[in-house]
Amino acid sequence: MTEKTNHGVKRIGILTGGGDCPGLNAVIRAVTKDALFHGIEVYGIRDGFEGLILDKVERLTRDRVSGILNRGGTILGSSNKANPKSYATGGRHADGSPVLEDVSDDVYKCLEKHEIEALVCLGGDGTMSAAAPFAEKGINCIGVPKTIDNDLVGTDITFGFATAVANATDALDKVHSTAASHHRTIVVEVMGRNAGWLALNAGLASGSDVILIPEIPFDIDDICEYIRERAAGGRTYTIVCVSEGAKPKGGKQIVDRVDPTSPDPIRLGGIAKWVSNQIEDQTRFECRHVVLGHVQRGGPPVAFDRVIATRFGHAASELLRSGKRNRLVVMQEGRLTDIDILAAADKQRLVDPNDCDLLDAARSVYTCFGDGEWQVA
Ligand code: F6P
Repeated sequence: MTEKTNHGVKRIGILTGGGDCPGLNAVIRAVTKDALFHGIEVYGIRDGFEGLILDKVERLTRDRVSGILNRGGTILGSSNKANPKSYATGGRHADGSPVLEDVSDDVYKCLEKHEIEALVCLGGDGTMSAAAPFAEKGINCIGVPKTIDNDLVGTDITFGFATAVANATDALDKVHSTAASHHRTIVVEVMGRNAGWLALNAGLASGSDVILIPEIPFDIDDICEYIRERAAGGRTYTIVCVSEGAKPKGGKQIVDRVDPTSPDPIRLGGIAKWVSNQIEDQTRFECRHVVLGHVQRGGPPVAFDRVIATRFGHAASELLRSGKRNRLVVMQEGRLTDIDILAAADKQRLVDPNDCDLLDAARSVYTCFGDGEWQVA
C-alpha cells in the first residue's frame, strides 16, 4: 500500500488545452485517481484556460473518471484559442480584426474562488506558453506533454502521437491497394504543423515510397524523376506521404486559412493537392490526393498511449504531492523525468535532417525525400 503524502496540497485543477488527442482522458483519470487517493480534491476545468476565464469548473470524482481510459477526446473539452494573455472577448476593431485582451485577472479570481492551489496543464507548446505567466506569478503549474505532432521541446515522446501514427498508417495502408489496382500515384497529407515526425513515422510504418517533411524542402522534379524510375523498374504505383507543413525548395508552406482569434493563427493545408497536380502534369501518370485531417486525432488511444498517459498522469500527481513547482513531465531516453515548464513554452522540436536515424532507415529502404538522395532498387 502506497503511503498517503501530499505536502499539504488540498485542491488542484486540471485542464486540457490546444488540439485534442487520444490519451487526454487517460491522463485525467490517472491524475485524479492518484490525487484522490492521497486526499487531494480535483477540479476539472472545462475547455482549457477558457474554463478559468469564464469560471467553468466541475468537481472530479472517482465515478466521473471511471470508464474513460480508452475514450478519445477529452471529457473536459479543449480550446486552442484561450490564452488569457490575449483572449478574444468578442469585440472587433474598426478593421474587423478581433480585440484581444489580457484577462489574467479573471483566471486569478477563478482560482481563488475555487481555492485551487495548483494546476495540471495537459497540452503542447501553446498550452505551456499560456501557463508560463501564471507559473512565473506563483501558481504552481505542472505540465503533461500532449500533441499528435510530437514536437514539444524536452521530451522524446508526447502522448497522442502513437495513436495518430497508427491512424495515419492505417489510412496509408488502405490507399496502397487502390493505388496498385489503378496504377496511380496517391498523395496522402498528414498533420504535424512544422514538424515532420508524424509523416516520417507513418510514412515509414506504411512503406510509403515518398515522404515529404517540413524540415527537408523538396524538389518536385526530383520526385517525378523517382516515380519515372520506379515505373521503368515495373513499379506502376507510388504512395506519397506528405506533411501538411512540407514545402518546395525556395517556396512557402501552403496555408489553408488564418484564424486571427487563435494564438497560433496559421492552419496549414493543401500541399497534397499541389504535389499531386504537379506529378500528374509532369509525368502524365494518373494521380489522386487525400487529406486525412482530424481523423488522425480521433478515436481511442492505442495501448502505448494509454500506458504512457497513465505514467505521465501519475508522475504529474507525484510532482504535486512532493511539493515540486512548475515542472513538465517528460520522457528522455526511455526514462520519466521532469524539466522546468518554461523550457517548453513557444518552441518546437523538429526533425534534424542531418542527424536522425529514422531518416537513415527510410533512405535505406529506397524512400525518396525529394532531395536527390534516393536510390531505386
Ligand atoms: O497541433 C495539433 C494539430 O492537429 C496539428 O497537427 C494541426 O496543424 C492543427 O492541430 C490543426 O488544428 P485545428 O484542430 O485547429 O484545425
